[in-house]
Amino acid sequence: MSQRVLRVGMIGGGGGAFIAQPHQKAIHFDGTRRVVCAALHPDPAVAMREAENWPYPIQGYKNYDEMIADQAKKPLGDRVDYVLIVTPNHVHFDPAHKCIQAGFPVFCEKPLTVTLEEADKLVAAVKAKKVPFGVAHTYLGHWTSRFSRHIVRSGLLGDVRWVDSYYLQGWLATRFEDTGNMQAVWRVDPKQAGASGCGGDIGTHALMQLRYVTGLEVKRLMAHLEIYAPGRKLDDHFTVYCQLSNGSKALVRASQIAIGHKNDLGIEVNGTKGSLVWQQEFPEQVTIKLPGQPDRVYFRGAVSANDGFLKDLPADLMAEPTIPSGHPEAFHDAFARLHRCFEQDVRAYNDKKPFACDGAKYANVDDGRMGIAFIQAAVESSNKGGVWVEM
Ligand SMILES: NC(=O)c1ccc[n+]([C@@H]2O[C@H](COP(=O)([O-])OP(=O)(O)OC[C@H]3O[C@@H](n4cnc5c(N)ncnc54)[C@H](O)[C@@H]3O)[C@@H](O)[C@H]2O)c1
Repeated sequence: MSQRVLRVGMIGGGGGAFIAQPHQKAIHFDGTRRVVCAALHPDPAVAMREAENWPYPIQGYKNYDEMIADQAKKPLGDRVDYVLIVTPNHVHFDPAHKCIQAGFPVFCEKPLTVTLEEADKLVAAVKAKKVPFGVAHTYLGHWTSRFSRHIVRSGLLGDVRWVDSYYLQGWLATRFEDTGNMQAVWRVDPKQAGASGCGGDIGTHALMQLRYVTGLEVKRLMAHLEIYAPGRKLDDHFTVYCQLSNGSKALVRASQIAIGHKNDLGIEVNGTKGSLVWQQEFPEQVTIKLPGQPDRVYFRGAVSANDGFLKDLPADLMAEPTIPSGHPEAFHDAFARLHRCFEQDVRAYNDKKPFACDGAKYANVDDGRMGIAFIQAAVESSNKGGVWVEM
């Protein structure tokens, strides 16, 4: 008989929310997971009303405390198998911690928390309760990110010398928050967003892409957090010069005032033998540049082993479910891949078997914590005028 469909509970997602939508599409992508219940809104009445009007049947809860307590009473098979947290940053720690304590695996949005103290507590709770925990660094879910990771980490480009990892947007170039836009309002509020606006929101994605693709860690950094929109309290432009664990250097930069840039996340890695270029707005391709040769452009779905450059392509990467080359995969597919890989760990957890949750296929709680440590160090450096700060 086929396996049962995993049950997912969602925290956040009502009232015109953004990222809950790609997530819930990705959850239903394979038919092996479905959203069964949710606490959709901080106002209990709105939460219940929105659950009733949800496009498919779900059980609504007035708040996440009620949802966690009620689900925890149910036996495996009737209760949620994992909880998705898609609330603003300041509402990550509390529900995540309560879910872990109740033994529920958690897939949480980034940045993990608003303080390093909270992040440390989540790491400790995950280790103590031994539950799968994923952090929604979307762009790791692209097949081409995993492919880039193999190319760089296997040494095909030689030693890494320099990395430029960036995420550029222009939507907050003016005080868009004054229009009441729901997504803008909390992102510019230190109480809801954390100590860094642009850095926490999208700089953490650029950092994660760097760490995931290269396997290198930031050892020390010097940062400039800048505010261009008048009167804003948090940075809308974030520039961090980093020294990496192999002695090489990197720029991790993010901007919300780069007019014309939409979701321009990308990475360029310069090694001693060649370079790699990847951009999430063109996520189907990876470009390799080798000295004295025409560029090699690899397309997802059309990569063959042993082509004179590639070697030892990981079997699990080649076996990853994907569609034929030329039918484009994009944002929703990346989210679906993260949930699909997380599902494997949740099923193993349910069966009391070992599970990976090692950061190879989606970001884990340690990765989430690293993002917060990076933000804390960047804020400290910037406040001191851009001095070097150890991570
Ligand atoms: N991975 C990505 O690519 C990506 C992209 C966008 C946003 N995000 C992250 O996702 C999170 C949400 O961002 P968004 O843009 O979707 O925000 P949003 O404002 O669109 O949605 C937030 C949702 O949380 C709900 N909410 C707030 N407090 C709640 C509470 N106490 N209980 C229940 N629900 C509550 C709101 O009602 C709303 O439904 C943020 O942490 C953000 O950084 C990640």
